[in-house]
Amino acid sequence: MSNETIKVLLIDDDEDDYILTRELFSLVKDGEYELDWAASYEEGLQVLARREHHVCLVDYQLGELSGAHLIHQARESRFTTPMILLTGQGDHKIDVEAMEAGATDYLVKDETSPARLERTVRYAVKLNVERCRAEAELERRVAERTAQLQATNKELESFSYSVSHDLRAPLRHMDGFSQALLEDYGSKLDEDGKAYLQGVRNASREMAQLIDDMLQLARVTRTEMQQGIVNLTELGQEVIAELRSRDTVGRDVIVNIDHGLSTFGDKQLLRIVLSNLLGNAWKFTSKREQAKIEFGQSEQGGEQFYFVGDNGAGFEMEYADKLFCAFQRLHTTVEFEGTGIGLATVQRIVSRHGGRVWAKGTVNEEAVFYFTLPNQIDIRPGAPT
Ligand SMILES: Nc1ncnc2c1ncn2[C@@H]1O[C@H](COP(=O)(O)OP(=O)(O)OP(=O)(O)O)[C@@H](O)[C@H]1O
Ligand SMILES: [Mg+2]
Repeated sequence: MSNETIKVLLIDDDEDDYILTRELFSLVKDGEYELDWAASYEEGLQVLARREHHVCLVDYQLGELSGAHLIHQARESRFTTPMILLTGQGDHKIDVEAMEAGATDYLVKDETSPARLERTVRYAVKLNVERCRAEAELERRVAERTAQLQATNKELESFSYSVSHDLRAPLRHMDGFSQALLEDYGSKLDEDGKAYLQGVRNASREMAQLIDDMLQLARVTRTEMQQGIVNLTELGQEVIAELRSRDTVGRDVIVNIDHGLSTFGDKQLLRIVLSNLLGNAWKFTSKREQAKIEFGQSEQGGEQFYFVGDNGAGFEMEYADKLFCAFQRLHTTVEFEGTGIGLATVQRIVSRHGGRVWAKGTVNEEAVFYFTLPNQIDIRPGAPT
């Protein structure tokens, strides 16, 4: 940079100042300087936007507006050119204001010698070059880290996938041999012995379920998304029909699903989301005489979101965020069965769609699970397209 011509922009509405500055630069002994002049606030911002200059000198007063104001506006517009404010004598307040607005430095006009001008300009440019280098280095490091993380994540996922897969076979053997023992040698075992063996079978089945859930969790992040328009109202109705048909008790559940819920996404994955959320609502209302489940859409602060709510067991708000971590359960398997992986799966799928999830609940009253899908589409008649 030392041999490069330093391009300077002067923003000043007084032509005399321009002439004076040009003279000062012509007297500078070290280095080459090229001075451009913008005669007004607006022109100054326009030229700055071209990002052609190494440094910019700004007069403290530009018509009605101040130089500090211009600097502030330039920084807001993410113009990173070093900016030096030219002030009058004793304008300490203006200097402070300018520095707060993002000025790199200031020069008192009447006290400025060619040497001081040269030093200030050169120092500002040097600082900027260093800052750019540091930023580029930081970006490079972030990119490197991200690549490393992605590779580790991939490895971890394929590891958990193959481990889960390999664990299935010995489990099947455990369950099979326990069953054979019960069937073929049951007469030689007393009641306690049979109960222990049944315990082994139950535990191995529980573990098999856990492995299946873990595999699904791994799968939802691994599989490629097949995106299209998905009618969530229909999907919700299908899931509820399935839940009703599987329910042997024949419970009385009032289900309300909003019409016209639709999005752009992966139907298979979104079915898993609704199966888990509506499945949870179904499960956690099982002790209610009159269960109510709702699946709808709403809006707050300009953000559209979906919700699945129920009037079941609810939960303590304190633990609301934990629920989305794998294996985190607030209820025992005696109260409500499950492995605690459903909501973790929901979160992964929603975030793959670019959305987020959260929950609100009150113990023994209600639970509401919210999620956003940024590609929400309204297919209700008359909805804006
Ligand atoms: N509708 C709900 N009402 C009350 N608590 C809920 C509700 N949905 C989830 N929870 C709480 O969040 C925990 C985690 O839910 P998640 O769906 O991940 O697991 P699970 O339903 O227990 O098991 P799985 O989904 O793996 O069969 C649940 O165990 C429960 O404590
Ligand atoms: Mg669940």
